[in-house]
Amino acid sequence: MSQRTFRIAPSILSADFARLGEEVRNVIAAGADWIHFDVMDNHYVPNLTFGPMVCAALKPHAKRADGTPVPIDVHLMVQPVDALAQAFADAGADYISFHPDASAHVHRSVQAIKAAGCKAGLTFNPAAPLDVLDWVLDDIDLVLVMSVNPGFGGQSFIDSALRKIELARKRIDASGRDIRLEVDGGIKADNIARVASAGADTFVAGSAIFGKPDYRAVIDGMRKQLRG
Ligand code: DX5
Ligand code: ZN
Repeated sequence: MSQRTFRIAPSILSADFARLGEEVRNVIAAGADWIHFDVMDNHYVPNLTFGPMVCAALKPHAKRADGTPVPIDVHLMVQPVDALAQAFADAGADYISFHPDASAHVHRSVQAIKAAGCKAGLTFNPAAPLDVLDWVLDDIDLVLVMSVNPGFGGQSFIDSALRKIELARKRIDASGRDIRLEVDGGIKADNIARVASAGADTFVAGSAIFGKPDYRAVIDGMRKQLRG
């Protein structure tokens, strides 16, 4: 697993919403590689968060001290999908992923995201099969495996996600394409190494980081586990 470049993507779902810009700056200063942006619609999932206007407001904060932009990783938990692709692209999203079961036409949704100028990802719930990848792996840039049911931060990691990550890794490697394999839900310093061993290279973590007083200590602790 050492040849892969790992990315840590803090989810601002667990940040202080009254100070979101500052939270984004602080977590980037603490070493975040990406900013994970959880969009929920109270329809596909039983919770409601934020949309393109909040993404646009945060975009200027998503950069390092030297001005290098930090990718915004939009995770759509919405149904339908397509109308939001352009809105999030205009709001500065870099990656946009969606749940295939939330789109009537998955291939079309992928194309809508790419046509808007973003990288496209597909997200798989804990009980969802990976079969759709057989038909879109040539078109996507990211596979996101959910290790909790979507909708809320702070849930426990579901172990069967490890098998799904292994299967996704095999498909990605067989494709020969440069596709990120991201995992989302219940990631902490004490399980991140197992998740990486299964084949993941990108790790979303919400409550593990924003719930703690020292973001850098948590992120450094995760990287130490990944190096080990
Ligand atoms: C859940 C979200 C996650 C969430 C993860 O629907 O997709 O990104 O923020 O939170 P933690 O890391 O607390 O499990
Ligand atoms: Zn997410």
